[in-house]
Amino acid sequence: MGPLPPSMRPEQVLISPTSGRKRAVAFLLPDERRWVTIHYILPQPSLFRSPTFPIAFLIMTFTGGLLILWGVRRLIAPVSTLAAAAEELGRNMNAPPMPEDGPREVARAAHAFNTMAHRIRRYLMDRTLMLTAIGHDLRTPITRLKLRAEFIEDDEMRAKMLNDLDELEAMVAATLAFGRDASQREPMGQVNLTAMLQTIADEAAETHIDAADRIVFVSENMPDVLVRARPMALKRALNNLVTNAVKYGGGARITLLHPIKGNGEDAEEYKVTILIEDDGPGLPTEDLERMFDPFVRAEQSRNRETGGTGLGLSISRNIIWGLGGDIRLGNRQPHGLRVTVTLVC
Ligand SMILES: Nc1ncnc2c1ncn2[C@@H]1O[C@H](COP(=O)(O)OP(=O)(O)OP(=O)(O)O)[C@@H](O)[C@H]1O
Ligand SMILES: [Mg+2]
Repeated sequence: MGPLPPSMRPEQVLISPTSGRKRAVAFLLPDERRWVTIHYILPQPSLFRSPTFPIAFLIMTFTGGLLILWGVRRLIAPVSTLAAAAEELGRNMNAPPMPEDGPREVARAAHAFNTMAHRIRRYLMDRTLMLTAIGHDLRTPITRLKLRAEFIEDDEMRAKMLNDLDELEAMVAATLAFGRDASQREPMGQVNLTAMLQTIADEAAETHIDAADRIVFVSENMPDVLVRARPMALKRALNNLVTNAVKYGGGARITLLHPIKGNGEDAEEYKVTILIEDDGPGLPTEDLERMFDPFVRAEQSRNRETGGTGLGLSISRNIIWGLGGDIRLGNRQPHGLRVTVTLVC
């Protein structure tokens, strides 16, 4: 309330006590006998007009936002753990199981995932064991047949029979090697890919002397590339591809490209690409994917006397996938096959 007009004395004004929102003020008129009383109700105090409201609002919004962020992260964390475990299982069938703790739903999902991984592992192991057992048991009858074939008098017939038996023996040996690969757990280590490819090219040139000048290794001008891999397995995988190029394409050009930054979640991850190319006939486009299946061989190579069991590409893909890499077949212009292998470094 402002100051009283100078013509009024304090005893000429009465103000109601300040409790509640109802107020009254009475003024004594100049005749000093009558009063004028004014009743009024104070407006409801507005929360939004309070001077501290913007600050409180900002603090609450910020704290609420932080709480929501924390809650969402807590909810999402098990999902990314599950995704990481699934990715790891793709690379390594013997990856350790996921921890089965946390909230009930998360623990149930982890348990279901572990059970599934266990079943896949058992299924794969059973199949590999069966394949290896058949391969193993076939060795004795093949040896017996070979001994018996020696007694065939017709020279031509004997030679043909022994040839078939040799082929059968090679298939069995390849099957056994496949089983051994699946069960062997060579430890991961740092591998100098540049040096390994140079060795593979040198060894291929030594083995295939007639194609030696058509086996070359080109590395883009750069320091040696290191990758994390199982060295023996990786060498076997790459060797199979180079041998194919020499066998079916008459030569192999191995190119190691500059590593490039991967676009995956891991910002530190680099990918390196190896090309293995030849100038042979290549493969019909519709056959490219099928060639990775075990025991599959293209018609043309089955007819030609190139030998082979059709397991090479299958083994290579298994190994490369196991290292988190990838392998693709493609045809070159005007003719020839290009195998593209990508590895993580
Ligand atoms: N560079 C190539 N050019 C043309 N055809 C190819 C090439 N590489 C592979 N192939 C075809 O793919 C088939 C499968 O190859 P894969 O390496 O799996 O088996 P393989 O060479 O027949 O036998 P092995 O088990 O001894 O390697 C071959 O039989 C051949 O027909
Ligand atoms: Mg092969």
